[in-house]
Amino acid sequence: MSSQESAPNPTVQGEDPLEGLLLEHKSKFKTCSQIGFYRRQKLLHPDQSPYLAQLDTLKNENGIVTLNIIHQETKVPLQLQVIAVEGNIVRLKINELSPLKPRYEVPDVLVKEPTTERFNILLQETETVVLEHTNGTSKVHIHSQPFSIMVTQEDKELFGINSQGFLYFEHLRLPPEKSSSTRPFNCCSKCLFSFRTLSRMREPAETDTKVQPDKSEQDVFGLWKEEFGNFVDIKAHGPSSVGLDFTLYGFENVYGLPEHADIHCLKDTRENEAYRLYNLDVFGYRVYDKMGTYGSVPLLLAHKPSNTCGIFWLNASETLVEIHSKAALQSHSQSNSPDIQKQKAVPKMDIRWMSESGIVDVFLLLGPMPQNVFNQYAQLTGTQILPPLFSLGYHQCRWNYEDEADVEAVDSGFDEHNIPYDVMWLDIEHTDGKRYFTWDPDKFPDPVKMQKKLQEKRRKLVVISDPHIKVDPNYTLYAEAKKRGYFVKDRKKQNFEGSCWPGVSSYIDFTNPAAREWYSSQFSLDKYKNATDILFVWNDMNEPSVFYAPEMTMPKDAVHHQGWEHRDLHNLYGFYQQMSTSEGLIQRSGGKERPFVLTRSFFAGSQRYGAVWTGDNKAEWEYLKISVPMLLSLSVTGIAFCGADVGGFVGDPDPELFVRWYQAGSFQPFFRGHAMQGTKRREPWLFGEENTLLIRKAIKERYTLLPYWYLLFYKAYRTAELVMRPLWVEFSKYEDAFTWESQYMLGNALLVAPVLDSGVKSIDVLFPGTEEYWYDFRKYTLVKGPHRQKVAVTLEEIPVFQRGGSIIPMRTTVGKSTAWMASSPYELHVALDRKGLAVGELYVDDGYSLQYLHEHMYSHRRFTFSENVLRSSSADKKGCYIVDCILEKVYIIGLKKSPSKVTAHCSGGKKMVEFTYNNQLCLLSLENLSLQVCADWEIHIV
Ligand code: GLC
Repeated sequence: MSSQESAPNPTVQGEDPLEGLLLEHKSKFKTCSQIGFYRRQKLLHPDQSPYLAQLDTLKNENGIVTLNIIHQETKVPLQLQVIAVEGNIVRLKINELSPLKPRYEVPDVLVKEPTTERFNILLQETETVVLEHTNGTSKVHIHSQPFSIMVTQEDKELFGINSQGFLYFEHLRLPPEKSSSTRPFNCCSKCLFSFRTLSRMREPAETDTKVQPDKSEQDVFGLWKEEFGNFVDIKAHGPSSVGLDFTLYGFENVYGLPEHADIHCLKDTRENEAYRLYNLDVFGYRVYDKMGTYGSVPLLLAHKPSNTCGIFWLNASETLVEIHSKAALQSHSQSNSPDIQKQKAVPKMDIRWMSESGIVDVFLLLGPMPQNVFNQYAQLTGTQILPPLFSLGYHQCRWNYEDEADVEAVDSGFDEHNIPYDVMWLDIEHTDGKRYFTWDPDKFPDPVKMQKKLQEKRRKLVVISDPHIKVDPNYTLYAEAKKRGYFVKDRKKQNFEGSCWPGVSSYIDFTNPAAREWYSSQFSLDKYKNATDILFVWNDMNEPSVFYAPEMTMPKDAVHHQGWEHRDLHNLYGFYQQMSTSEGLIQRSGGKERPFVLTRSFFAGSQRYGAVWTGDNKAEWEYLKISVPMLLSLSVTGIAFCGADVGGFVGDPDPELFVRWYQAGSFQPFFRGHAMQGTKRREPWLFGEENTLLIRKAIKERYTLLPYWYLLFYKAYRTAELVMRPLWVEFSKYEDAFTWESQYMLGNALLVAPVLDSGVKSIDVLFPGTEEYWYDFRKYTLVKGPHRQKVAVTLEEIPVFQRGGSIIPMRTTVGKSTAWMASSPYELHVALDRKGLAVGELYVDDGYSLQYLHEHMYSHRRFTFSENVLRSSSADKKGCYIVDCILEKVYIIGLKKSPSKVTAHCSGGKKMVEFTYNNQLCLLSLENLSLQVCADWEIHIV
């Protein structure tokens, strides 16, 4: 069956590719009011929590404080755990004290069971208990009636929990026919009243045509059964939703919660829908929308000049987050008249989390600075895996490169047009009838030869491997998975069968460790026929995408390993596939080489397994524009290796958009051109000579900057520093930066201001930071911050500025791919701050193996410039990798006066250095240095 027949999206099936998408989104995907657990939770009345904390049950054992909280009407007891986690983190867990059966607790996302510290009980009264973290900075105040918690930091209020009374916990129960209780779910009698009233009325769900007015209360609110269009979700275990509210004191700006095609600074949700975290295949998604797309990271960050903190809600079921910003009146005394109490408006944000199942398991990351929060989150979920160097180069993809001749022609096209690139990609059509791990025998009769040719050019190949497996008893992968019982089951315990690219398919149950191990083993070269070790992998459609199913994904009543329902772990499915693929690639190399795996669907922790891209965007300016905040939101939640399809996946970009997208993409972490089937061919040289020149320039600039990119990825891996940084992270006290999201920092040294609109002659650039110096990256002219200014632009390039005080390592020459550049000389761009100082680093290793990890096979250098001396020294004495590469040039930008002489000093002795000085630009250029880039040396400017 061809993809044309099986694809459900209108672009493939219909005549007008884009029309109808909007309508389709409306009917295919749920709005909040069509989600049962949301409707149920919304019946709660604010400020009237029915929960009471039984403080006399408090125990403080082994670093965990436990106590019971009880619903005052249903009397169902819950257990609260308060845990002091190392590194200024407080973990709260709420579960039923004695559930009918265990509730789902998210496995495998945390890198390890967090190390606990201790709480001292400072105060224990009937109404209040105060716990003090032994690190002395934070306290947890637990109030009994109604139950609420206040977390303070340095005795200032930071988090209020259940302060609005939205703690919600549907205890597991027997089905209605087996139970004597008539109460449908946990709230108070007032809610029950509203529930009864509402359930007599018809619910507003647009597509809920089957709901009849005489439906039972149970059905209307989707307790045991929930309908959406023609789909029915049978809830074998009944309702199990959980929710909790958090108040963040003094905060006005919150970020995170990817993935949404929306701005980076999260919006107030009162007017509109809640942010939805539910992994879905949303072809040509709408921009400025809070609906769930392909992946979810339930981490929200809050920032103000004095403090940054985070809420990590560890729940993998469908989750909705409401955000309300408010000003609260707070009393304060005037310093000049201590007796007079005045009231001032202090901002606060109310954040309400609601999940369909699982437990409440939440980590409060107490900061206090942005980097502390990133470290705290990384301590829990890990850092970005260090990618192989080739994957930081440019990737060329298309659905599809048709056959081996096409691959060869495109590959040669790059050389003919003198454009570097590293990776050729093959989409679903390379397989034999969408059977992954196979090759179409007619179009790809000799894949080994094809890979050999790429290898000779020192390039790589990426092929797609989706999680749906064609139902075909003659397809070995299918037959084997079936025999071993590795497919997800439907609720009747039969192998679940849905439809995707190959037609009827079953889905590997990646939540089963044995299935993951088996899947990993499929990548070994003896199993994967005609694969070679230059072949890497792309996991797509792993939300998972199931055509003609509810919201185009797996029904929630499907059943996984150990009997868990799909609803419990939906958002983890793609995470597990990428984990398994990534481990497969490592195993293939005998544990020696780094994997590269791109995934569309992801969860918290996916950074440990590879890269993420933002799915099926469109070739329109709005999608180029939204790529920046989307990638920033991924970045602040730990996913550093992220990108968007350059050029836009759906539709045909015009030349200007195409060029601008390459210019923007070359400054985004994952840099891949991709296009949908049926779009016009768009290899970088197909838009006329002038545009080819501009694209070549953008891609080449990316390659010259690879030493800096690699350093940033090393730092992301080692110390959780962000590669792509929103301005608020780097300039955390400069409030103008908090909502400025059309530009960003790459590391701490480059300010990138992509051109995101058509036909513009100038763009507005914010130069942040008091007393910061900013130098045009290519022309070396100076702008002083803080300052907002119009910067003239031409189609030539996008504005980029180097921060005074930084040193950026670059290559002087570019090769056909990263591998051709292994011995290219280096240059350093030393940009001086107002005090005439600068620092920078360089990280070098072999670029592909895991020896940096196990054998310290790396060289990590530090460069400093002060008192007119540029010094190279070791930044990490453990590194023992020998780098035979020279430093050829140094540019010192912002040097006030011309030197009379420049000398270089290294172990080989002292030598004079050739230089030129540009008075106007205050630019000193040193040439022909011939110093070993990773050795100790000094350059003296006299
Ligand atoms: C999905 C992916 C897209 C890919 C296509 C065919 O739409 O998002 O990148 O080209 O499937 O595999």
